[in-house]
Amino acid sequence: MAASCDSLLPLVLLLCLSAQAVDRSNFKTCDQSAFCKRQRELKPGQSPYRALLDTLELSNSRLSLQLINDNNKVRLLLELYRLQGNMTRVKINELKPLKPRYEVPDVLLSDPITEALSVVAQDENSLVVSLGGKDQRLILSAQPFRLDIVEGSQVLMSLNSRGLLAFEHLRTRKDTISHKISSTVGSMWDSLKSMFSSKSESEQAPGQENVEQQTDEDGQIKEEDDKPGMWEETFKSHTDSKPNGPTSISLDFSLPGVEHVYGIPEHADTLKLKNTDGSDPYRLYNLDVFQYELHNPMALYGAVPVLISHSTDRTMGIFWLNAAETWVDISSNTAGKTMFGKILDFVQVSSEAPQTDVRWMSESGIIDVFIMLGPKPADVFTQYASLTGTQSFPPLSALAYHQCRWNYNDQEDVKTVDQGFDEHDIPYDFIWLDIEHADGKRYFTWDPSKFPQPKEMLQGLMDKRRKLVAIVDPHIKVDSGYKIHNEIRSKNFYVKNKDGGDYEGWCWPGNAGYPDFTNPEMRTWWASQFAYDQYEGSMENQYIWNDMNEPSVFNGPEVTMHKDALHGVWEHRDVHNLYGLYVQKATADGLIQRSEGVQRPFVLTRAFFAGSQRYGAVWTGDNAAEWGHLKISIPMCLSLGLVGISFCGADVGGFFKHPSAELLVRWYQAGAYQPFFRAHAHIDTPRREPWLFGPENTALIREAIRQRYALLPYWYQLFYNAHRTGQPVMRPLWVEYPDDFATFSIEDEYLIGKDLLVHPVTDEGATGVTAYLPGKGEVWYDVHTFQKHDGDQSLYIPVTMSSIPVFQRGGSIICRKDRVRRSSSCMENDPYTLYVALGSQGSAEGELYIDDFHTFSFEEAKQFVHRRLSFSANTLSSRNLAPDSQFSTASWIEKIVIFGGSQPSSATLKSADGTESALEFEFDSTLAVLTLRKPGVNAAADWTIVLR
Ligand code: NOJ
Repeated sequence: MAASCDSLLPLVLLLCLSAQAVDRSNFKTCDQSAFCKRQRELKPGQSPYRALLDTLELSNSRLSLQLINDNNKVRLLLELYRLQGNMTRVKINELKPLKPRYEVPDVLLSDPITEALSVVAQDENSLVVSLGGKDQRLILSAQPFRLDIVEGSQVLMSLNSRGLLAFEHLRTRKDTISHKISSTVGSMWDSLKSMFSSKSESEQAPGQENVEQQTDEDGQIKEEDDKPGMWEETFKSHTDSKPNGPTSISLDFSLPGVEHVYGIPEHADTLKLKNTDGSDPYRLYNLDVFQYELHNPMALYGAVPVLISHSTDRTMGIFWLNAAETWVDISSNTAGKTMFGKILDFVQVSSEAPQTDVRWMSESGIIDVFIMLGPKPADVFTQYASLTGTQSFPPLSALAYHQCRWNYNDQEDVKTVDQGFDEHDIPYDFIWLDIEHADGKRYFTWDPSKFPQPKEMLQGLMDKRRKLVAIVDPHIKVDSGYKIHNEIRSKNFYVKNKDGGDYEGWCWPGNAGYPDFTNPEMRTWWASQFAYDQYEGSMENQYIWNDMNEPSVFNGPEVTMHKDALHGVWEHRDVHNLYGLYVQKATADGLIQRSEGVQRPFVLTRAFFAGSQRYGAVWTGDNAAEWGHLKISIPMCLSLGLVGISFCGADVGGFFKHPSAELLVRWYQAGAYQPFFRAHAHIDTPRREPWLFGPENTALIREAIRQRYALLPYWYQLFYNAHRTGQPVMRPLWVEYPDDFATFSIEDEYLIGKDLLVHPVTDEGATGVTAYLPGKGEVWYDVHTFQKHDGDQSLYIPVTMSSIPVFQRGGSIICRKDRVRRSSSCMENDPYTLYVALGSQGSAEGELYIDDFHTFSFEEAKQFVHRRLSFSANTLSSRNLAPDSQFSTASWIEKIVIFGGSQPSSATLKSADGTESALEFEFDSTLAVLTLRKPGVNAAADWTIVLR
């Protein structure tokens, strides 16, 4: 929720709260963002950059050479690396910047492993570099400078083929007054630099140690004329002092053969990214957008600068590692063709072939781009995961149902709602407390009159094996009676304003300071505040929600922090999109530390960046109780999943406004099949616990939530898989059917893992949905009716209010727990039912993953069960996938349901010890469903069942 007004007055805030739609005037368009405007004014085909081939240096795995801008004679340093796993990294920085430029730390897991590069051919205007593997080469053309990555005779991607590389070099301001300002800031930078020596990573980057102004061969730099907004920029009542002047960067990428590109969340837009010709580019700038609109490229709360391209030939990714304000233009078949093929005569590219061009523009930092060459969707996910890590593995309960509202008023309210779930026989795992629970919005405290005995409340929940989440936002009330504030101030941990004082802004508590989460010492201190003896009233079943961490500053420019605020030596401008990631990281570290490294944390964040997947879950912010918002939750979470963030959900019911009973039921039905499943509502909305809409709707909601609980073993196994491999949990159909063009734009249905296809009902008054079932020769089974359908067809499915269209892929085995209880923790040792959906060849495969559901002992200690379940030739068996793991479970197999087979005359269970026993079974010949009763084997054991 943004109070999107400039005023500090709470009254105005209240007025803002009742506004009905986004106030676009609070947020910049590209034209209002000086650097975006400047960059967009550059036209294709006029690249001033030339590669100086005689500066080439090649070590085993690093190729570098200088680029010169022939207009102003400024030189850049280009570095190329081939990375393990079919990736190429391209870095471009100033050869001798006046001072270091920001290079994003803490996002990459480690220095990526490089592989050998070699120059295989060279003439006066080009270089051909072998990238190893599969006949891949990189062709570097000197004038105009461009790079083409080719495989065999195919161009995979070209860089600067449209000539839109632009690198605004650091410069001193021409007039004396501003020069003085600039040198004051310069000396401040020098002194801050020594204070923050831990941040010196980029200071030591090669080629950056020289802080002299650069000159060309004649000793002359030709400065361009100043343009508006280069040295100062005003937006509404805010002036950005821009002490470093213009620093923006841009580069274009051409993708021949590509018509479909995805990713670069977060936007409330279609899954397939749109052409931005004639509109604003997609914007990546973490912002608290009040009542966001659908279907536009405006920035939202989080930013992941990763774009995925897909065609029937190949899937690739571009990871633009830059945390400053970024805009991304996308166009198709518009340019670049004329320049194609000059030195690529041997390369065959049809001029008719489709092409997508992507152009990235960032306000500061350097160009540091990772090109992930696939070729399959799964390869791109693996490649990206190798750079930035995988989804953290949540405790099982975090995958269950969460009940939230702004606010549960007091302990009594929490107790009543908790009892309400039991009275209505609806399971839930977490109840959430929003900002009103704290004493005057002083996070880490409890309102003494409303929550006088937090431990008693937490114990009550614990007795029922339930949990609580409390919100901890990063804005800290400026109040000398508040311990957290006093400590942050005395340790000098606040972000500074441009004049060196503590930066202050207006947020929920009133005047607030913003801890500098980019400072590792600050993060360590923050993490320590979650220790049980520091955070009074907290217990081990309390987890944390980080909101407003874009950061939201109600009276700041675009409702966020001033870009000239300072994080040590760096401007907020440089680090903006990283701030939210650091908040969640520090919080998750705190939860791990409070349990001495034993328990897995659960932290929800609103702002995020590349790599945030390592720290917990995200949600799509302040949506509204409207059908359009329900629909958009699917592409929004799919887009996040494509760029590593699997643990995503939208507020069930919609945050603003009051949903109709029909919308609420449909939203529960959809939310039950999305990774993060939480109902939430604005403080001004009427109460909407699941039993407040009449008994029929309560029953429908109960059923949706129960379906979620029954399926938790599958969700858990998929999250384990996402954690191990980086494959998304919620997947667009094209990820599993990459050759089926019909799937490329589908966003009203999706896959969970590869085996469940969900087409939620998202239209008011719907009496049916049309689902596309992919896969020629495949079959799909309706999970509710067991009805079998052929793949490769669009199927009309009539629906009633109780319908949630879900299909299981023929050829798969899914494990469920059909005895649904009060919470997921109560179901930990319950037995499993295996649902075996036979494929057209009469076989099926699946996995079962079990551990203690909440600690890290699945890691080094290998305390888990991971089994392969296979059915073929009328034999179903369970075999160990991880022989070096150990874990004993009380869970057993209580039932096996096989669909798509024929009636056997006997079913024999063979246990690991060689004993054999006959199993009872039933066969429904109309639906071809065979049910094997009580095999009774332990879920961790080896066993075989033979049907004859
Ligand atoms: C904004 C969040 O998006 C919303 O979920 C929350 O309820 C309010 N802040 C109050 O904390």
